[in-house]
Amino acid sequence: MKRLATFTAVDFLHHSLYAPSMREANGQIVVDVRAVEKSFGDGADRIHVLKQVDLQARTGEIMMLVGPSGCGKTTLLSAIAGTMRVESGEIEVFGNPLEKMSGGALTRFRAKHIGFIFQQFNLIPTLTVAENVGIPLLIQGVSSSKALKRSREILDRVGLGERWKERPNKLSGGQQQRVAIARALVHEPPLVICDEPTAALDAQNGEIVLDLFRQVARSAERAVIIVTHDNRIFSYADRIARMDDGEIIEVTEQSHQQPPQFIHEHTH
Ligand SMILES: Nc1ncnc2c1ncn2[C@@H]1O[C@H](COP(=O)(O)OP(=O)(O)O)[C@@H](O)[C@H]1O
Ligand SMILES: [Mg+2]
Repeated sequence: MKRLATFTAVDFLHHSLYAPSMREANGQIVVDVRAVEKSFGDGADRIHVLKQVDLQARTGEIMMLVGPSGCGKTTLLSAIAGTMRVESGEIEVFGNPLEKMSGGALTRFRAKHIGFIFQQFNLIPTLTVAENVGIPLLIQGVSSSKALKRSREILDRVGLGERWKERPNKLSGGQQQRVAIARALVHEPPLVICDEPTAALDAQNGEIVLDLFRQVARSAERAVIIVTHDNRIFSYADRIARMDDGEIIEVTEQSHQQPPQFIHEHTH
């Protein structure tokens, strides 16, 4: 956040002159992935999962990353979130080159700047819903009473205000997913990354969640990256990056002449 606040007109001009993709963009590039490579396994079992991947995300936008199962989407998100190291290439997040950061620095950076919604929600079963949501605030040293207050506010916004005292396993899959979303947003991270955030959500709750993501993204200093193959939500994207077999094959912009709409039926 600090870096963005001090992003001066001169910096902007410099970027506009030297980074062609910035010229038409409203937002600043806050995630910049360049020529990233990643493989798993050895010898005959080796699989090449990310192949010279380039990808940018900007403030003020929802970027959706779509593609068939196994094409490398979660791997790419993990690399951007700094939970997995890549073999070569560069990833800059808010101007910080992740490959140059130590493990400890990366952990602190992530806690402050990134809200991550995992495909499996990773809620802690022994804590209440509100306590789970408050974790990112506690990590930052916010008092527990303040953390509880902010957790309950965000739980209200995802329609779970009444359930704050319960344990996560008392909630349905879709409700647990909304708790995970609330936890990723509670500390207002400038980058929100979500892996299949609507997979367990019905249309009504999907709409609540996507509207929330849009509000989050529209605030000028935030970027949202969503991995999805849920075609009900594609209209919420400002840009869609299509991935196949470890490569980004196409990036398209959407103009939003009409407000986005959650499509209530799956189309195939
Ligand atoms: N930790 C890992 N070890 C070995 N192989 C992995 C690992 N993580 C992912 N893979 C493999 O990498 C490929 C891409 O996986 P993933 O990024 O999860 O795809 P997606 O999220 O698009 O479904 C798959 O073939 C998967 O089996
Ligand atoms: Mg995945």
